[in-house]
Amino acid sequence: MKIKILTLFPEMFDGFQTNSIMKRALGKGVAEIEVINIRDYTTNKYGRTDTPPIGGGAGLIEQCQPIVDAMRANSTEATHKILMSPRGVTYDEKKAKEYAKLDELMIICGHYEGIDERVNSYVDELVSIGDYVLTGGEIPAMAIADSVIRLLDGAITAESLEDESFNDSALEYPQYTEPYEYEGQTVPDILYSGNHEAIAKWRRKQSLLLTRKHRPDLFAKLELSKQDKKLLAEAESGETPKWEKDALEKGHKFIKK
Ligand code: ADE
Repeated sequence: MKIKILTLFPEMFDGFQTNSIMKRALGKGVAEIEVINIRDYTTNKYGRTDTPPIGGGAGLIEQCQPIVDAMRANSTEATHKILMSPRGVTYDEKKAKEYAKLDELMIICGHYEGIDERVNSYVDELVSIGDYVLTGGEIPAMAIADSVIRLLDGAITAESLEDESFNDSALEYPQYTEPYEYEGQTVPDILYSGNHEAIAKWRRKQSLLLTRKHRPDLFAKLELSKQDKKLLAEAESGETPKWEKDALEKGHKFIKK
């Protein structure tokens, strides 16, 4: 997959591409990112890309010509073009999965006080990363590129993708590391049991409980299985179910104190 980013601040993407998982994924050829400087396309003899708004008002507005010419020079009919804008549809994991299937995604970053309204008609979608206003579209573009690339084959392990938050819209279960006790807080004993089935059940239960508590909006949309309903009923009863007790009995032997 190729992601083309149109920006007036290409250097902002240097660190993004040269660290951590993005560095590895791009190095392995999982995806390709091309950062295109909009300023390279201006026909203004002073290299300007913006002017004050017609009708008056604060700041400078990005003009159509450099952006549209940069888009035209770097896209084909098949390129999906999105403009970062607080006015856009709110980005989510479903959109990330949709974009991960594309051959080519073009992300256009706006800056300053705004963009000439007419640019909107050259893109397929306006996309927002949330209900707050940032100074430019570069950080939203990074959020989108990151969330799409990590879904591509070879970026991270398939196992990591399977378990995680938002897969079926439930939040991810809690994770722990050594030591067993940290400043009075302990790791749930069942995680030492070695009983993979019991651990999976316990994790699913925590995932459902966390989602219900922290994201009731997501919980309301979950399609609960019979097993999910049973796990929730068990949690409500306040009693430790037999499968958990059995696993715990074994688990206590494994606790590293
Ligand atoms: N540009 C400024 N704020 C934005 C946001 N929340 N999402 C996408 N693009 C933006």
